[in-house]
Amino acid sequence: MIKSVRGTRDLLPPETALWNFVESAVRDVFRAYNFQEIRTPIFEETALFARSVGEETDIVAKEMYTWEDRGRAASEKGQSLTLRPEATAGIVRAYIEHKLGDRGLNKLYCIGPMFRRERPQKGRYRQFYQIDAEVIGPPSAGSESPARDAEILEMLATLLDRLGITDWDLELNSVGCANDRAAFNEALRKALEPVVGRMCVDCQRRAVTNPLRVFDCKVPEDQPIIEKLPRISQFLDEPCRQHFEKVQAIVQAVGVPFTLNDRLVRGLDYYTRTAFEFTHGALGAQNAILGGGRYDGLSESLGGPAAPGIGFAIGEDRLVMSLKESAEGVVRKPDVYIAPLGAGTNPEAARLARELRHHDLVVELGDESFRLKKSFEVATKAGAKYILIVGENEVKADAFALKNLATGEQVSVPRADLPRQIGQN
Ligand code: HAM
Repeated sequence: MIKSVRGTRDLLPPETALWNFVESAVRDVFRAYNFQEIRTPIFEETALFARSVGEETDIVAKEMYTWEDRGRAASEKGQSLTLRPEATAGIVRAYIEHKLGDRGLNKLYCIGPMFRRERPQKGRYRQFYQIDAEVIGPPSAGSESPARDAEILEMLATLLDRLGITDWDLELNSVGCANDRAAFNEALRKALEPVVGRMCVDCQRRAVTNPLRVFDCKVPEDQPIIEKLPRISQFLDEPCRQHFEKVQAIVQAVGVPFTLNDRLVRGLDYYTRTAFEFTHGALGAQNAILGGGRYDGLSESLGGPAAPGIGFAIGEDRLVMSLKESAEGVVRKPDVYIAPLGAGTNPEAARLARELRHHDLVVELGDESFRLKKSFEVATKAGAKYILIVGENEVKADAFALKNLATGEQVSVPRADLPRQIGQN
């Protein structure tokens, strides 16, 4: 038997009702902040991710699904393509390609699958779903303003509240700009020199190629060493320090609680200045529901114009796991099950179903070959509120037996009254 591939899974009903519940709340909230949807391809040129997310990150170094495409001619070498491990790179590529900066500030979001070849566990999959949002534009459109950072953080707090997720923590840091990073990397290299020999092989490599990535290390034995390393917060230049303070001042003013965490550097290389994560205790080891930050130099590093930006991605799988709501609570059960009774009653039952569905009722339709007992069983199993019997006599009288499956109460209802009768309560 062929099964789903390790790290992938099927999302089945009624669980999918929760996903729809989340996505419709997300679209409502995003609309209120004037975000619009963008859909980019699921695969891109490998170089896009290597240059934006960064060669030395776990994502690019270990986790990408990459293959060489066939060339047009047999002799021609194919392109290297990669399933997107995240959405920001593709959105910034689209921003550059379509000159979206001409429109001023862009507030974009996308919802869809991402792919990382990580070790699967609860809350970690190889195909997972992100709800990603980005605010990007030319500096003249105010894209660099701390007001944008704070607006994003406040929007996320609003969204989580709206979904009934209460016990989240917002961790905030500034990872500075390229200037700060140069000084910080220098200090990190120095601090690592005497101790790196005792660290894991990944850290030994990172210490040379990209020392900031040492902070991504999960090896328990390395943690006491990492705890003592210098922090980026000590290396912020004046503009970066001020920017970060202004972000915090607005976030405080709008009443969103946060904690500062100067170890938070995020696992992608494009970040500058504000970096953040929302965590949720109940999730266990994979407790980051979402993460994001600023990437003021990303567009230029991909050959585009100056286009500061900030964004985030919610792990939708994890968001759904942290809902208190149950799938049963959000799924809409049939208002009525229509049971045609006896040969030749299917057409009339279909007509009734069509009429009732026009009234925005959820209608399940049986078949004239079912005996009454079977129709009742099927209707009950489907969780229908009412069963509507469509037999020969009913068709003649144009009034139908309607039974409330919870109370057992049965009434005869003229056709014209059916929508009101079924739709009430
Ligand atoms: P990220 O932190 O790599 O950031 O991913 C964001 C979220 O995606 C994580 O907090 C987590 O909830 C979810 N996630 C990541 N990997 C997995 C996985 N294997 N299984 C399940 N969920 C996962 C980014 O991707 C950035 N592009 C965010 C961003 C947008 N920054 C600026 N704009």
